[in-house]
Amino acid sequence: MTNGFPPGFTWGAATASYQVEGAVSVDGRGPSIWDTFAHTPGTIADGATGDVADDHYHRFAEDLRLLADLGLKAYRFSIAWPRIIPSGSTVTNPAGLAFYRRLAETCLEYGVTPYATLYHWDLPQPLEDAGGWLVRDTAERFRDYAAVTHAALSDVVKNWMTLNEPWCSAFLGYGSGEHAPGRTVGADALKAAHHLLLGHGLALEAIRCPEGSYGIALNPAPIHAASDSAADRDAARRVDGLRNRLFLEPLLAGKYPADVLEDTGMTDWFAQFEADLPVIGAPLDFVGVNYYCPTTVAAPDGPISSPGEPTTQPGSENIVAVDTGLPKTQMGWPVQASGLRDILVSINKLAPDLPLYVTENGAAYPDELTADGTVEDHDRQAYLEQHIAVCRELVAEGLPLKGYFAWSLLDNFEWAFGFSRRFGIVYVDYASQQRIVKKSGRWLQEFLTS
Ligand code: FCB
Repeated sequence: MTNGFPPGFTWGAATASYQVEGAVSVDGRGPSIWDTFAHTPGTIADGATGDVADDHYHRFAEDLRLLADLGLKAYRFSIAWPRIIPSGSTVTNPAGLAFYRRLAETCLEYGVTPYATLYHWDLPQPLEDAGGWLVRDTAERFRDYAAVTHAALSDVVKNWMTLNEPWCSAFLGYGSGEHAPGRTVGADALKAAHHLLLGHGLALEAIRCPEGSYGIALNPAPIHAASDSAADRDAARRVDGLRNRLFLEPLLAGKYPADVLEDTGMTDWFAQFEADLPVIGAPLDFVGVNYYCPTTVAAPDGPISSPGEPTTQPGSENIVAVDTGLPKTQMGWPVQASGLRDILVSINKLAPDLPLYVTENGAAYPDELTADGTVEDHDRQAYLEQHIAVCRELVAEGLPLKGYFAWSLLDNFEWAFGFSRRFGIVYVDYASQQRIVKKSGRWLQEFLTS
């Protein structure tokens, strides 16, 4: 037992390609929707882009040594589709595959198990130009890319996730426009969600083999009603439907939630795709949960819907998030570790024997590099301690929770927030690219190695 966890429990840290790699024009990489979006004025805080980010493309060996030194035994990274198939379809770029082979082999040299995510949001731009996740063809191209990548790397990478947080790709990318590609039609978010899920299912079908382990990383969150009133409870049902059940039910129960399709007026659109449900719902080896915070919602005073507005809540645009007075991170996200329990327990109820991983968990706080070169991030350490304690309890209770990945190994490009939010357990000085292990990282190291 390591501090109350069984010996086989996986301890890792996570990153994502566009957030850390940089080297956007190197070795044949093509542009992704995030390159285009980040270079569009007004999209990202301070006009930042991922052009350089952590320069992980050139510094991954140093970063992996650091990860191994911290006592971590697993690295969750994502593969950039535009490095492997720059145009999105047909022609494969050997230099892209070679990069991820070097990365995976370096993991193995350090005794670190690689966990690869095939899609952490960097869709090749040519595919967006052809309709993006609004068209079925993109799901098929994703299957082809997954097949090529898996065939080339499956001797060194055994643990695979298809998508990272399809809720974000669909609802922030196509509904509210806060993320690439920046589209703002509520119904489009639902269409994108279906094609993402279909892409997941098709990819899984194409890559599954007995030696590997295959899953998906979702970002479900507990949704609470602000009061016991019927209106607030209905608001919570609607938001829970969009955020959680729209993804969990097709994946784990082979159906779309009827109430969500009704709330959004999408029943007929989804009815055409009944035949996709068995593909989407094919058995998984695990589900990854990215958990940050719960949400509490209240019904609006007026009408619940305002069609036509940019939204993450199509059909329920006017439902509001309520501040319940919990402490918050720099993102404004309330801190409540028991929410991690709630969400893992609810998935376990839906799929009782399915192995679960926490594939992301962490917090942004305004870190300061002190004159003596340290970062005393007590708040982040406390956040990690509280959430890891919940994992320990759940494992002791017999929940099939198999691992925990801190988000993130490194401070990095936090999407629309650019470099203004730091989630790392390792501080990155962007000017010098120097890495400095924060107090939270030292604490984790001590926890894992003592
Ligand atoms: C998750 C993303 C990850 C990171 C964290 C803070 O939604 O998967 O890339 O941005 O949030």
